[in-house]
Amino acid sequence: MNKVEIIGTGSYVPSKVVDNDELSHMVSTDDEWIVSRTGIRERRISKEENTSDMATKAAVDAIKSAKIDVNDIQLIVLATSTPDDFIPSTACIVQKNIKAVNATCFDISAACSGFVYGIDIAAQFIRTGRFSTALVIGAETLSKVTDWQDRNTCILFGDGASAVILQKGDKEGIISISTGSDGSKGDALVCPAVPVNNFLSKTKVSLNKGTVSMNGKEIFKFAVKILVKLVKEMVVESGYSLKEIKYIIPHQANYRIIEFVAKKLGINPDKFYTNLDIYGNTSAASIGIALDEIYKKNLVKSGDKILIIGFGGGLTYGGIIIEVL
Ligand code: ACO
Repeated sequence: MNKVEIIGTGSYVPSKVVDNDELSHMVSTDDEWIVSRTGIRERRISKEENTSDMATKAAVDAIKSAKIDVNDIQLIVLATSTPDDFIPSTACIVQKNIKAVNATCFDISAACSGFVYGIDIAAQFIRTGRFSTALVIGAETLSKVTDWQDRNTCILFGDGASAVILQKGDKEGIISISTGSDGSKGDALVCPAVPVNNFLSKTKVSLNKGTVSMNGKEIFKFAVKILVKLVKEMVVESGYSLKEIKYIIPHQANYRIIEFVAKKLGINPDKFYTNLDIYGNTSAASIGIALDEIYKKNLVKSGDKILIIGFGGGLTYGGIIIEVL
């Protein structure tokens, strides 16, 4: 089996900052409530850019950081719950934009775990020798599926994109991977698509709003349970101790979830790298934006280990231990 290295990271967020005060003019809420319940102070919201536009910018950033020729990319996996269109895939739109003519491209849907699932998929293609260079993107325009009248959800989300380049290499950069799903709890986080409503349908269904609804408490409980389990299991499986993991990058959903998990694991919350205070929850993009920040700020050096963990709609979850090369 081939070894897989992460050779570049990238990210992009829209320039428009929307802080909690601005939201308090739209729904009945305030900065104190949002910060104390979530840790979120502001988020970036797209004015015009769609998911492919942000994904393209993150991809270009990652390609630049990896110092590769775009023609080397043989696979583009794009994780999103907010594609530009059903067809074509957003991955194919990015391919067109960056002119990665040698790539096979497709989208995956795993909500906030999408970035982890995407790396897992790309790594398998490289390990088996099918492809040698892959671009994995997590990108979301959650603002287009947010109900801006619903204070339970609109305070949480932001827009953005992130990317990594994986390549066949001499050293192993992906130490261990664990993923899972629990479809029986899918109702806890829903964004409906188009109902069956054709000339054969007996009952006429009206088009739904197409916005996100969520059972916040259910997601909270699931997130805490799964994060604790994954961290414990993955650390044991990798043969490292928790002390040897430099950073844990969780999906950036809610700071209170992270505090709970840190307490249950008996570790300092500072081990968890967070930026949700300034970006909110960007779903499939969130882990990659944080990973890119860690690399670009030189917070890690060769040999350091990072554990990335996603959880989200589906319900889905997954983690990867990365070694910085
Ligand atoms: N501002 C002010 N008050 C609010 C707001 C708001 N934005 N939203 C809800 N409230 C009110 C409620 O109406 C309720 O009022 P009531 O007691 O009069 O009925 C009260 O605050 C408490 O509401 P809860 O829903 O019980 O608040 P909770 O403490 O559970 O916090 C939250 C809600 C932040 C969503 C929490 O459940 C949570 O963080 N869950 C995790 C889910 C998450 O992070 N999801 C992100 C997307 S999913 C993902 O990424 C996987």
